[in-house]
Amino acid sequence: MISYNKEKRVFKLDTENTSYCIGVVDKENFLGHVYYGPRITDDSIDYLMRIFENPFVPSQNERDRGSFLDSFPTEYAGSFLGDFREGSIQVRDKNGHEAVQLTYRSHEIIVGKPELKGLPSTFPGKDHVETLAVKMADDTIGLEAVLYYSVFEKEDCIVRSITVKNTFDAPIHLTKIMSMTMDMDSEDFELLTLYGSWARERQIDIRPLGYGKTSVGSIRGESSHQEHPFMALVEKNATQDVGRVYGFSFVYSGNFLAQAQKSQFDSVRIMMGIHPDCFDFELKSGDEFVAPEVVMTFSASGLGQMTRNYHDMYREHLIRSPYKDRTRPVLINNWEATYFDFDTDKLLDIARQAKSCGIEMLVMDDGWFGQRNDDNSSLGDWQVNEDKIKGGLKYLVDEVNKIGLKFGIWMEPEMISPDSDLYRAHPDWAIALPNRTPSKSRNQYVLDLTRPEVVEYVYGCISSVLKSANIEYLKWDMNRQITDPGSLYLGKENQGELCHRFVLAVYELQERLVTDFPDLLLENCSGGGARFDPGMLYYSPQIWCSDDTDAIERLKIQEGTALIYPLSTMGAHVSDCPNHTVGRTTPFKTRGDVALLGTFGYELDVTKISPDDVSMIPAQIENFHKYNDLVRNGDYYRIASFRENNVFDCVQIVSKDKKESLVVFVQVLGRPNCHSRNLRLKGLDPKRVYRVEAENEEIIRLHGDTLMNAGLMIANPWGDNVSIIIHIREA
Ligand code: GLA
Repeated sequence: MISYNKEKRVFKLDTENTSYCIGVVDKENFLGHVYYGPRITDDSIDYLMRIFENPFVPSQNERDRGSFLDSFPTEYAGSFLGDFREGSIQVRDKNGHEAVQLTYRSHEIIVGKPELKGLPSTFPGKDHVETLAVKMADDTIGLEAVLYYSVFEKEDCIVRSITVKNTFDAPIHLTKIMSMTMDMDSEDFELLTLYGSWARERQIDIRPLGYGKTSVGSIRGESSHQEHPFMALVEKNATQDVGRVYGFSFVYSGNFLAQAQKSQFDSVRIMMGIHPDCFDFELKSGDEFVAPEVVMTFSASGLGQMTRNYHDMYREHLIRSPYKDRTRPVLINNWEATYFDFDTDKLLDIARQAKSCGIEMLVMDDGWFGQRNDDNSSLGDWQVNEDKIKGGLKYLVDEVNKIGLKFGIWMEPEMISPDSDLYRAHPDWAIALPNRTPSKSRNQYVLDLTRPEVVEYVYGCISSVLKSANIEYLKWDMNRQITDPGSLYLGKENQGELCHRFVLAVYELQERLVTDFPDLLLENCSGGGARFDPGMLYYSPQIWCSDDTDAIERLKIQEGTALIYPLSTMGAHVSDCPNHTVGRTTPFKTRGDVALLGTFGYELDVTKISPDDVSMIPAQIENFHKYNDLVRNGDYYRIASFRENNVFDCVQIVSKDKKESLVVFVQVLGRPNCHSRNLRLKGLDPKRVYRVEAENEEIIRLHGDTLMNAGLMIANPWGDNVSIIIHIREA
């Protein structure tokens, strides 16, 4: 997988379909980017770095060292020494200087993949993975670094990260550290990123890549609703099936920067890492900093292959939960059903009715603790409110279990309400800046998780709630972003460490949680989907995708999310209509069919919805069980996108052995006077004969090649927001 051409000093990293090459040049050992793309045979390709043309390398043309640094395609860019493009790393050394330039020292090829201490990271699992560790250094400031490249062959992924160490006798401040940088020739690329807002997460945005810097990022203390730790460089006019696509996905849940910079010489510099704003990490002599990793993939055949690479990669090499390979219990969550207005009797009524429909778990959402009757108080006071939960938590859980349902609970552990016993006792536990009025959001503050006693307190609360009754699921929420980044605990030299230390503490808490409660089903959440990122998937097999449960809005949200993340990770529920976020009314069937493409569950008062809707639940749950193995494990193909065509949406899942496939078709807008629609399917075995059923009725038997090339006819459905399920099986 990893080879080294000693003469040319070129490393070649091969996956099944791609090659990634880097090279060492000149006497000073600059590390350059050589090639990334479809798999190639030769490694004697140092010429791609253009070191044999003007301005040449410094040993040949010292007078133009600056020009060399400013045009050399680098693997990790220094700062302020001649390369005027964006640097990968910046420091403030003991003299107050900020310049840095890491160059190659030695390398090692490791079988396996080293873990990143304290951080989520991909792992080999059962597969053979090799890692190239390139040792780098800047002797002037005593900084050593290791660039890691792990090769995941089958998934066509290369995973990059960096660790740096201060070997000097004085502290050094790390003020910027990107996890990866890569320079390549521009090819008329477009940039694909995901943007959004609360209830509108992960919308796909594609724009031409112009000169200068184009970036997305978050300085909100979480990966955010607004911008996503992902970027793809996409060949102009690429489609699902055609075109070169480079994907970069950041395994981190806090502030991030993802940037593309097109230079004067038409090269593109991609970089991704922790956002340098609000980041200043002191490394004392001997200290090491471990940066989060970036998962890169290349597809020569469009966005669809990039998606399938990421799905396989994250399913096999990132998600650890034992639930990854299991059908999750069909849950009913009481948030949209009751909001804060519930008690034991109400929940038990819901549980009884839910049980009679085949639902398998009741999740008690926000409002069960302290004095929390609205969202103004009590975060931090994790004692059950016995005025509402009469008889206590254990009584409720036992009763729910007796009805035959599992029980799950909601918590928001990282938060503190100003109106809470916790805040009255420990006002200094909230993140705040001295002499400033802190910005409240949803009337709450964020706990200062850099304080060890706060982490202990939080963990104590979570574990005592979980131990107090038979609680089998936890929804871990995070409902506000970080502002006023000040800690009364950290010293003046260390205030810039707060945001990263906060994320590390969340990871530490979740690591403890999944270790101590290995059977717990953990679902992360952040005001909907503001922390839907690869970092959180390392701890929880599923994440609440969005507070917007409207089936039509979900088409776009789930399309953007599924661009990177497997369907098994996307929290999706059937809710009541008119939808609480957009006021839209959609058929109950469509809501069920769209939620089928995620984890599936209900978020409504099953004692109040119409008898017609109630009567449809058992069949929906049957469908869920029928298709869930396929949905969880299959290959994802996008046949049509409502986002693009404004009329209809169509997703297809194909089992790995190509014996079975599911197509979910949603006609959003009815069309007058139209003939049937031709759907050209994907991913099937061309030679196999398939039996095609629409809504459980066989409609045709055809070979895979016919279904994929000639297509399948779907009659023009009557009405808006109508969905059709097509099941395809080997005949
Ligand atoms: C967030 C979540 C919701 C719900 C509420 C409770 O907004 O995304 O699902 O849990 O908090 O306050």
